[in-house]
Amino acid sequence: MPQLPSLTETELTRRKFLSNLGKGIGLAALSVASVSSLLEQLNAATKSVEHLSPEETAMDEDFWFEIQQAFSVTRGITNLNNGGVSPSPKIVTEALIRYIWEQEDCTAYTMWQIMEPQCETIRTGLADVFGVDREEIAITRNASESLEILLMGMDLKSGDEILTTTQDYPRMLTTLRQRELRENISLKLIKVPIAPKNIDDIAQKFIDGITSRTKVILMSHVINITGQILPVKKVCDYAKSKGIEVIVDGAHSFAHFDFKQKDLNCDYYGTSLHKWMYAPKGTGLLYVKKEKIEKIWSLMATEKTQAKDIRKYEEIGTHSAAPKLAIGEAILFHNGIGAKRKEERLRYLSRYWMNKLKGLPNVRFHTSFDANQSCGVANVEIVGVDIAALYGYLMGTHKIYTTTINHDEFKGMRITPNVYTTLKELDRFCDVMENVAKKGLPK
Ligand SMILES: Cc1ncc(COP(=O)(O)O)c(C=O)c1O
Repeated sequence: MPQLPSLTETELTRRKFLSNLGKGIGLAALSVASVSSLLEQLNAATKSVEHLSPEETAMDEDFWFEIQQAFSVTRGITNLNNGGVSPSPKIVTEALIRYIWEQEDCTAYTMWQIMEPQCETIRTGLADVFGVDREEIAITRNASESLEILLMGMDLKSGDEILTTTQDYPRMLTTLRQRELRENISLKLIKVPIAPKNIDDIAQKFIDGITSRTKVILMSHVINITGQILPVKKVCDYAKSKGIEVIVDGAHSFAHFDFKQKDLNCDYYGTSLHKWMYAPKGTGLLYVKKEKIEKIWSLMATEKTQAKDIRKYEEIGTHSAAPKLAIGEAILFHNGIGAKRKEERLRYLSRYWMNKLKGLPNVRFHTSFDANQSCGVANVEIVGVDIAALYGYLMGTHKIYTTTINHDEFKGMRITPNVYTTLKELDRFCDVMENVAKKGLPK
């Protein structure tokens, strides 16, 4: 049998390579050629805004021009539905393809013995972004998987209550309804005020909703249909004092705006990485506080010896290592821009189009303009105009892609620009919306 390099050696060499390369930018697993061109581009761009605050950088179109070029998106469509799933920067897609090719060579060896161990570096990179220990991070396939692990993995008994909102993500509600049917636990839904005057009003709604039977709270950090940011820390602080577990759905918050786990004081958090982190499709993250890992069952059965190991949540059978490794390039890109700069740009873009439309008498927002309450995601309605028809007109006639939100409590269009979106594209969207608001849809 040929002599194979030892895994430890491979891992050590890789880490040395990465730490030399990634200092100040992040952790990644990249070829030198791709790294150097990205670093050159990003370094030059970030150097040019070093003297500016993130808020000032948000308005520096020269800087964002460089970021726009990092994506290969068509300009034939104005994509204002980045909240569903996001395009990745070129460097992520290139890396993904390279890793796919790599694992097609002696797959069982390359994928399991060379590439999988490198995912530990990715775990470290993600832990760094969230500000936690890497032994508390599992790499999953999406927010659904992360959250189902939590929602299905907690022991509950008949009569226990789970508290959440009418605006939480449908799949997460379905998961809880299934537990209702199987185990006779009960689901209590509260209504979140739409664009409340004060974010603390929402915390109070949760606190008022708690009963003596409440064992778990599921709350979105950002409500996906409105972009409303929820006061997670306030609810977690209160719930902890009452011995209630809080599961945070971070699908729309992670890498969207700048925060760490300690800012939430949460013990459980699940997110996708193919939204605001721009990682390959089919990547997600699960955070479980170290001392809680033992009590949360894995979704697929694991050995008793793995009970305290976060990796038990990754026991899903054979799957590709390529998307997981390419998360490294997404982290590199995220850290290269800087989380705070990205947050301020995303907020600047949403306020840019919202401010242009807000003066129109029949335009109604289902999202607060308050910086603490929303960032890049917002929901708008033109009163009297059917949202499905508006969606069709925007895409059919103007190639502006949005998404409709048809909820019991309100209806509107969810608009999510991204760091590659140009102001000209938003101007065009606003012109069309203004025309429709004034004249209605063409017959
Ligand atoms: C709030 C929220 N939770 C969970 C999910 C599920 O994410 P995924 O489909 O990536 O698993 C989404 C997706 O849009 C979401 O918006």
